[in-house]
Amino acid sequence: MPQRWRVARADCMEFLGSLADGCVDVITTDPAYSGMNEHMSFGHGRIVGRYSDEDNTRWFTEFRDNPEVFIAFLRECHRVMRDGAHIYVMFDSFSLLSLGHLMREVFAVKNIIVWDKVNLGMGHYFRRRHETIVFATKGHRRLSRRDLPDVWAVKRVHRGAYPTQKPVELFNRMLAGSADPGMTVCDPFVGSGSSAVAALLAGCAFAGADISGDAVALTDRRCTAVAAGRPDPLGPPPRPRIYTAPP
Ligand SMILES: C[S@@+](CC[C@H](N)C(=O)[O-])C[C@H]1O[C@@H](n2cnc3c(N)ncnc32)[C@H](O)[C@@H]1O
Repeated sequence: MPQRWRVARADCMEFLGSLADGCVDVITTDPAYSGMNEHMSFGHGRIVGRYSDEDNTRWFTEFRDNPEVFIAFLRECHRVMRDGAHIYVMFDSFSLLSLGHLMREVFAVKNIIVWDKVNLGMGHYFRRRHETIVFATKGHRRLSRRDLPDVWAVKRVHRGAYPTQKPVELFNRMLAGSADPGMTVCDPFVGSGSSAVAALLAGCAFAGADISGDAVALTDRRCTAVAAGRPDPLGPPPRPRIYTAPP
């Protein structure tokens, strides 16, 4: 059986440039925004103090998320999406205001979803507990379900194997009304591969990329396990069995 996923070690624009027009049904992505890091630092460290790449230099310098770069990225997403494809782009509160509005220049924005991370994070003023996900379409296609709310309470990953690792459940919810088995899901900023795992679990094919070799290796490891029907290596540990005495 052919492998249902492909993850490239590549810059997002180079990766998207390698895809044919209209070959993607759903994009679910969590880009590497530099804006939040540049504008907000806490104490002696940056807001994301644990982040560094293999050379121990700063992360995310590769993707300069100024409006020109971001709109070029969105246009490439639009090109690879088929007519009627759906796109979900995650934004922190800083990038939502500085870049989120650009989604409207390229796509038909349908809603902004609030991800309630349940547990409190850091924050100078109000402590952060949410992120946002802009949902938009290329052309017109309805969600396949009408029972999905626009606030999602999903516990964030605490001390994950990968910095910024998101819960698979978040991507499950993005795909719930947008993906049918056999469709192709894409994430040009795949990180630990949570979006890829959700795509495979939904019976979809997956195409993704990340600039980091660690991210690509981790995504491959998770996809190999899940595609073979084994548990996600970064998934929650199995619950202890509760012993019930035989009657
Ligand atoms: C916010 S993280 C994604 C986290 C992911 N959603 C997860 O659950 O693990 C953003 C990712 O973008 C990658 N990245 C940074 N610049 C990039 C670029 N120019 N092209 C592709 N990936 C890039 C980083 O290496 C990082 O893994």
